[in-house]
Amino acid sequence: MDYAASREEALARIAQAQDLDALEKLRVEFLGKQGSISGLLKTLGGMSPEERQSTGPQIHALREAVSDALAARKEALEGAALDAQLARETIDLSLPAPDMPRGTIHPVSQVMDELAEIFADLGFAVATGPEIEDDWHNFTALNIPESHPARAMHDTFYFPDKDAEGRAMLLRTHTSPVQIRAMLQQGAPIRIIAPGRVYRSDSDATHTPMFHQVEGLVIDKGITLGHLKWTLETFLKAFFEREDIVLRLRPSYFPFTEPSVEVDVGFAIVNGKRVLGGSGDAPGHGWMELLGSGMVNRKVIEAGGLDPDQWQGFAFGVGVDRLAMLKYGMDDLRAFFDGDVRWLQHYGFSPLDVPTLSAGVGVRP
Ligand code: DAH
Repeated sequence: MDYAASREEALARIAQAQDLDALEKLRVEFLGKQGSISGLLKTLGGMSPEERQSTGPQIHALREAVSDALAARKEALEGAALDAQLARETIDLSLPAPDMPRGTIHPVSQVMDELAEIFADLGFAVATGPEIEDDWHNFTALNIPESHPARAMHDTFYFPDKDAEGRAMLLRTHTSPVQIRAMLQQGAPIRIIAPGRVYRSDSDATHTPMFHQVEGLVIDKGITLGHLKWTLETFLKAFFEREDIVLRLRPSYFPFTEPSVEVDVGFAIVNGKRVLGGSGDAPGHGWMELLGSGMVNRKVIEAGGLDPDQWQGFAFGVGVDRLAMLKYGMDDLRAFFDGDVRWLQHYGFSPLDVPTLSAGVGVRP
C-alpha cells in the first residue's frame, strides 16, 4: 500500500475543508472508530513481526500527519471565524453612557456596618445566631421561665411543631439568645456584638413584625457597671458623631440582667425636631429611652456553662432600626420594609459609602 499517496490525498482534502462541519466529517472518515486509518492500525495485530516492524511506523506516521493537519486546519478555520465576527461586530462609541446603578444600601445594613466598625475598634467581634430558635435559648436560659410574664410580653411567633429535644420552636423575639450561644460555643472571655433580625407579632407606625436589634455582650473578670457605661458612651459618641452625647442610667428590670439599667440619652429640640446631645435636664431638653442593659445575671452565666463566681459581664440590647431613624431622620418604621425604590433612593447609601472610623461612620455624599 502506498502510504505516501494516501497521506497526500488526505492532507489535500483537509486543506480544502471549508468549515468546521466538513472538517469534523473528515476526522471521522480518517480517525473515527470505523475510520480508514483506524482500520489500518487494526491490521497491525495480524502481521508477522517483520512486517509489523516495517509497516507499523508508516501507519503511525500517517495517522500523526493526518491528525496534525486536522488540528492545524481547525485552528485556521476558528481563527477565520473569529476574524469575521470581529469585523462584523462593531461598538458604537457615540452611544450614551449607561445609567448609574440604581440600587442602594439599605439604612439598616449601613447602620449594622457602622456598628461593626465602631465595636471592632473596641475589640468586639460580630456573632450571629439562628432566627428560628428554641424556647430554651430564647427564654429559659435567659432566666425567663415558662410561667414568666415576659414570655407573654414578647408576642412570640411559635411554630406548630417542637424540635427533636421537645423544645418549642419560635422566631427569636430578641438577639439575647446569641449571648447563650456565644458562651456555650466559645467560653470566656467574650466581647461580641450580635446584630440581626427579630420577630414579634406587633404592628403599627413604630412596631413591625420583623425588626432589627444589636446585642452586646462582654464576659470577663472584674467587669463592672462602669465598663458598661464607658462602652455605651464611647459607642454612642462614635455612632452619632457628637462629643456632647450625655447618658442617664435608670434602674430597670430585665430577667437576664441584675442589676438592670435603662439607658436614656439627652436631646434638645431644634426646629421642632429632637436632636441628640447635651443634658436632658437643661431647659428645652429632654431624655429619650434608647436601650436596655445591665450586668449579666448569674443564672444566665450558668446557663452559658460558665462559673458566675469567676466570670462577670455586662450586656445590652438596642433597636437597630431605631438607631437608624434617630441618626438619619426617618419617622415611619414601616417604610423600612416596604421596598419602595423612591424611599431607598432617598435614604439608601451608595455602595461606596463604606463606614470607616477614619473617614467618619456616617458620611453621606
Ligand atoms: N432583649 C431585650 C429586649 O428585646 C433587650 C435587652 C435588654 C438586651 C437588656 C440586653 C439587656 O442584653 O441587657 O427587649
